[in-house]
Amino acid sequence: MLIEDHCAKIESKIDKEIAKAAKRFGDAFNKEEFVSTNPRVVGYREKINTILNRMGKSLENENLEDVKALIEELEIADPLSGSKNWTDVKQFNLMFGTKLGASAETAMELYLRPETAQGIFVNFLNVQKSGRMKIPFGIAQTGKAFRNEIVARQFIFRMREFEQMEMQFFIKPGTQVEWYEKWKEIRLKWHLSLGLGEENYRFHDHENLAHYADAASDIEFKFPFGFKELEGIHSRTDFDLAQHEKFSGKKLQYFDPETNQSFIPYVVETSIGLDRMFLAVFSKALEEEALDNGTTRTVLRLPAVLAPTKAAILPLVKKDGLPEIARKIVEDLKWDFNVVYDEKDAIGRRYRRQDANGTPFCITVDHDTLLDQTVTIRHRDTMEQERLKIDALSAIIKKEVDVKSWLLRM
Ligand code: GAP
Repeated sequence: MLIEDHCAKIESKIDKEIAKAAKRFGDAFNKEEFVSTNPRVVGYREKINTILNRMGKSLENENLEDVKALIEELEIADPLSGSKNWTDVKQFNLMFGTKLGASAETAMELYLRPETAQGIFVNFLNVQKSGRMKIPFGIAQTGKAFRNEIVARQFIFRMREFEQMEMQFFIKPGTQVEWYEKWKEIRLKWHLSLGLGEENYRFHDHENLAHYADAASDIEFKFPFGFKELEGIHSRTDFDLAQHEKFSGKKLQYFDPETNQSFIPYVVETSIGLDRMFLAVFSKALEEEALDNGTTRTVLRLPAVLAPTKAAILPLVKKDGLPEIARKIVEDLKWDFNVVYDEKDAIGRRYRRQDANGTPFCITVDHDTLLDQTVTIRHRDTMEQERLKIDALSAIIKKEVDVKSWLLRM
């Protein structure tokens, strides 16, 4: 991480050069041409590649002395103390060990899982046979994972107990490159569909591969503390199933009815931290917005599909039959959407409360509602208001918050 952070600093110099040139050349600026021909940028890029290649090779060969030499040659300082007085590089114990059993003598040593994936691998044949699944198919699950992280920090970014959402996608051997590229593309598209800004995502292809992978890439997200891993996509070959087969003595093979042959499937994995996803959404959604009238508002611009409350129904006043109509709207909408009723405080304060909760719509019932069955619908992000018939509410909300329409827009 120290070496990668050092490279990220060089990368930010490249970004600065690009920004400067873009300003200088205006509309005539061709980023691709600039990046491939500008001597300073080309030099920075070569520097990064040389460093990462050397680090990758040294880690692969377990040449930890060279990793230390590289840190020293690059004159990397401890980000906290500023010291360059490094101890030797050593492997840390990354898993939590514990004991299972009634007494100390008979207790069995075991480890808390550092990823949820293995549960999927050991159940691969159960799922394939009972679901009569044909390759290619995926199994996904969400659950706790535990790691003995040396430094757990940056809010919920790095924790020792966290939640993973993983999918193992089982494929024919030899098709892994194609499926790996496909899943990279699908997953990035999924992230972009949330609307948090294309510029906040990038791929980071791994130089230093985990023992189980023949290719690996992270989808990195621009958190408030810089670009960091949000999701990993790994081509895991047949490593895991083959290991389980070897140590359990049980076959974990797929019978292909088309060729009448059995084989151990290859696997492409997508793995995302639920907590990191939460942090990513919140870090971009939460905003203190300066308004034209000189005041500010706290607004949580959650993608509508993720907002916990989809609409708040607000009677303008607590009398004249308005609460009754508002409650009737809640009754109608609550079967399809999570909606709330709020009559406390002035209407402006109620709007602000919902803005801060991320509620995409506020629906206000006023005296005109009594006459023509219309209400005001206020949009959280633009604060624009429209007048419409109560009957039209459900369709308008559905269009924005519906999971199906969101996925079809991908
Ligand atoms: N099964 C593969 C695997 O576990 P990983 O890249 O080590 O791969 C996958 O982890 C995802 O889990 C990461 O992209 C990240 O979102 C999340 N994650 C990993 N370590 C974490 C930690 N200490 N705290 C929170 N999330 C973590």
